[in-house]
Amino acid sequence: MRYLVTGGAGFIGSNFIRFVFKKYGDDAQVVNLDKLTYAGIRENLAEFEGKKNYRFQQGDIANPEDVAKAYEGVDGSGVDVVVNFAAETHVDRSLLEAGTFIQTDVHGVLVLLEEARKHAPKLRRFIQISTDEVYGSIDSGSFRETDPLNPRNPYSASKAGGDRMAYAYGQTYGLPVIVTRASNNFGPFQYPEKLIPLFVTNAIDNLPLPLYGDGKNVRDWLFVDDHCAAVDFLIEHGENHEVYNIGGGNELENREITDRILELTNRPKSLIKPVADRQGHDRRYSLDTQKLANRGFKCDTDFERALELTVRWYLDNEPWWRAIKEKSADYKAWMEKNYGARTSRPH
Ligand code: NAD
Ligand code: TYD
Repeated sequence: MRYLVTGGAGFIGSNFIRFVFKKYGDDAQVVNLDKLTYAGIRENLAEFEGKKNYRFQQGDIANPEDVAKAYEGVDGSGVDVVVNFAAETHVDRSLLEAGTFIQTDVHGVLVLLEEARKHAPKLRRFIQISTDEVYGSIDSGSFRETDPLNPRNPYSASKAGGDRMAYAYGQTYGLPVIVTRASNNFGPFQYPEKLIPLFVTNAIDNLPLPLYGDGKNVRDWLFVDDHCAAVDFLIEHGENHEVYNIGGGNELENREITDRILELTNRPKSLIKPVADRQGHDRRYSLDTQKLANRGFKCDTDFERALELTVRWYLDNEPWWRAIKEKSADYKAWMEKNYGARTSRPH
């Protein structure tokens, strides 16, 4: 299979490319189109550089020329499958500056779809990686794929735009589009601005863990390998023009997962620092995953084991995250200003 993976220098994309090469070996060809934003780290896939079935291309999914080049594939023969992971992904950053989110998460998807039209009907799949956040928050019960979207922050609103644009191109032009909506991923190579890697690396350094609001917001945690396996499954067995939820079935309050991280890193609870809540902070995400199960896929990684493995990975790969944390000084200063000092809700 010939893949075009976008955003493959980021967290999930790099795990997906590693998954594909592990499973299919030399039968897989992968072009990795990535802009290398602050979140893109080409070295995440250093082990594949120079191989004849892998091509890294630095480029922007919102740039038609970059995209046209990427669709040529590794050797000019084209691609069978597009998996679009490329996105601006952090809610807190979308509160700081939303324009790049629209540019990449909406317009970038459009550019990828327009190029896909030129390659139809040879293209087998176009997988748009969306997120559970497009549904908005739910106090009880779980969202199904047919539920209306109600994004409540600039990140999720832009993801909803890309999600619906991909769906629309499937309906309108018959492109082989599948949209996936996954819950919160965790695992190796996650940029240390998201909850789990931030708290693990802060704990290792005995730094405070800034827990937003009352710490009772609920997220459903999905191990990244399960997400990759689900996407791989849908490429083979999904139905075009359908949306699939991908959930881990591990709902936890933030304070619960924080306690587990402190246990696993052997650090005291006094490191927890309650800070002002995130603006527009979604209370709870929850997915009904029956549709994917009916198709024949179930996530099977044990959550506790996966969390232990993840913490172990950060303990074993200090140079990786220390280099990133040192580089992101501007962002850290902004977070400190917005979440560090304030004690009351910002709105
Ligand atoms: P990430 O921030 O770690 O990586 C994003 C990657 O996209 C980076 O390598 C970055 O350089 C690249 N990128 C950004 N803008 C680009 C552009 N214009 N052109 C080309 N490349 C660009 O993100 P992630 O956590 O790996 O998320 C990957 C995808 O999965 C995103 O679409 C995200 O919305 C979705 N998702 C993430 C989660 C999660 O918990 N992390 C959950 C559900 C869905
Ligand atoms: P995050 O990893 O940013 O993912 P998302 O907002 O996309 O779900 O945050 C997960 C949860 O953790 C969310 O409820 C916000 C909370 N959180 C904190 O309490 N402190 C933090 O420093 C961060 C980054 C997140």
